[in-house]
Amino acid sequence: MSNSQKLEAIEVRLAENSDVLEKELANYFEKKNIDKGAEAFLATEKYSLLGGGKRIRPFLVNEVCRMLGGDMQASLPFAMAVEMIHTYSLIHDDMPCMDDDDMRRGKPSNHKVFGEAYALLAGDALLTNAFAVAASNPFTSSEVNVRAIELMAESAGDVGMIGGQFIDLEGEMRKLSLDELVLLHNLKTGRMIELSAILGCFAAGYHEDSDEFLCVRLYARKIGLAFQVVDDILDVEGDEATVGKSLNSDAEKQKTTFLSFFDIGHAKRYAKSLTQEAIMEISKLKDSEMLCMLAEYLLTRIK
Ligand code: IPE
Ligand code: IPE
Ligand code: MG
Ligand code: MG
Ligand code: MG
Repeated sequence: MSNSQKLEAIEVRLAENSDVLEKELANYFEKKNIDKGAEAFLATEKYSLLGGGKRIRPFLVNEVCRMLGGDMQASLPFAMAVEMIHTYSLIHDDMPCMDDDDMRRGKPSNHKVFGEAYALLAGDALLTNAFAVAASNPFTSSEVNVRAIELMAESAGDVGMIGGQFIDLEGEMRKLSLDELVLLHNLKTGRMIELSAILGCFAAGYHEDSDEFLCVRLYARKIGLAFQVVDDILDVEGDEATVGKSLNSDAEKQKTTFLSFFDIGHAKRYAKSLTQEAIMEISKLKDSEMLCMLAEYLLTRIK
């Protein structure tokens, strides 16, 4: 397959996956049994969750499950849960007390439309709802669901994404070391990407000590780190219309990013080598072509 054919193939799969996810998420709100008085609040959650985003994490959940012979029915609730947590993190990340960014997913950030208090609540609601969605996955055992929830909490919490967000804010105040920056990237972005791959394994019935699980997790760790390096590069040289969010945000906040240490060329080479390592790892498993293409696709976001 030529590179452009590969790119087309992964774009088609991402779009198909987004459609299915979007329908399930819309359905979730449709079916929600909510008091009339609180019903209007759902619009704040739906605004950020529906109709936008690349949906990389839910794709990873579903595609890992598919690759390992599982059924999409089983991975979909986990994919929804991960996207809900991710969307909550974006809403809070954009608020004035955090990165203070006005654009997200091609439209005004949640707090710009609904105000800070409702944006805060929309994030809180998405985060808490995610746990209920995963807990009630009817296609996996209660035991698997409990472990999934435990890992969701760890990956999103102070030993995961929140810990990374804390170090990120510290990095506005003082220059972090390179080791601290790599830790920050792995925590704030890597852990949720790793979680997505892990949940895909769970949905396909694979245990944490299986070779497949370890291989998928290592692949996800590598693409997770590469993903944030790419995100740092896009903040500097991306096109706002394509990226769909406020750019030059890191420099304005004087954050420590990969580009505080290396020039763009070096950062790109680093993202590339992480991607190659990820591909080498996942290629050990059969039917992994789509995950190889995903890794490459993430890199094509930068030139
Ligand atoms: C943005 O994530 C935040 C990071 C962790 C870099 P994405 O680039 O996946 O954002 P969406 O979901 O496509 O909007
Ligand atoms: C990702 O980092 C933060 C989250 C965990 C949401 P960024 O702050 O770099 O993400 P963007 O660039 O605003 O999407
Ligand atoms: Mg941030
Ligand atoms: Mg931000
Ligand atoms: Mg960024």
